[in-house]
Amino acid sequence: MSNNLLKGKRGIIFGALDPNSIAWKVAQRCHEEGAQFTLTNAPVALRLGAIKELAAQCKAEVVPADATLVPDLENLFSKSVELLGGKLDFVLHSIGMSPNVRKNRPYTDLDYDYFHKTLDISALSLHKTLQTALKLDAMNEWGSVVALTYIASQRVFPDYGDMADAKSVLESITRGFGYQYGKSKKVRINTISQSPTKTTAGTGVKGFDAFFNYADLISPLGNASAEACADYTIMMFSDYTRMVTMQNLFHDGGFSYTGVSREVMDKFTS
Ligand code: NAI
Repeated sequence: MSNNLLKGKRGIIFGALDPNSIAWKVAQRCHEEGAQFTLTNAPVALRLGAIKELAAQCKAEVVPADATLVPDLENLFSKSVELLGGKLDFVLHSIGMSPNVRKNRPYTDLDYDYFHKTLDISALSLHKTLQTALKLDAMNEWGSVVALTYIASQRVFPDYGDMADAKSVLESITRGFGYQYGKSKKVRINTISQSPTKTTAGTGVKGFDAFFNYADLISPLGNASAEACADYTIMMFSDYTRMVTMQNLFHDGGFSYTGVSREVMDKFTS
């Protein structure tokens, strides 16, 4: 289904690793809606992933960038503006990784070098991306930046480990930079807080399957899929949401505002 919502818009999509990635679905929807964009990921992910297949589908160029390295980001923004033929209208930040979570380190026994990496990759990379875009004046007025987050930033989910702290910082940067970029260039920045989704990053969290099923039973609409997240992201990139900025937008089938559901209660009724 296409409504040409992004016709004439240019952007950068971070984080499409494989066809399960949320960014992969966003790229496909952006293409359907008429946008032109570059795809980017860390060089190691580009070697392992299937991004070339997506690039061919979307007629997009791939520009490698480790999102923790400012020179890589400078190259990415300059190249993207050059390749796409003008300043950008949207950026998707769909990046997350915790070495502590990957190696099953409990929250009370973190490795601090890993913790720094978690924060750098999953949160500071958003600040670095925004600061680079601002310094290079690479975004058009009313441009839209979306970063993906999870509700563990605000409530405790014990197995989410130090990623919870990274998501809190990510959401705080969204507000802090959202103010500055809004004032100076009318660029808007929001996070979308997505349901548990079966991707490489998602399933890397201990107990993911049980938690996925729990969230599905709590949420009145069920878990939101990656495809539905892509639809929501398109709306956030479109001109229909021009006055929305600095928000954390729940896209979770109602999970965040449900105390308990009948289905979960039934499991405790003997
Ligand atoms: P994914 O594993 O497909 O995507 C994560 C991406 O981050 C990968 O493409 C990876 O290569 C990239 N990345 C890691 N280190 C990087 C670096 N240094 N520079 C550039 N890119 C780097 O998994 P998914 O689920 O699509 O993750 C996308 C975003 O959605 C993440 O921010 C994640 O935390 C968030 N999210 C995921 C949920 C889930 O249950 N899957 C739920 C809520 C939010």
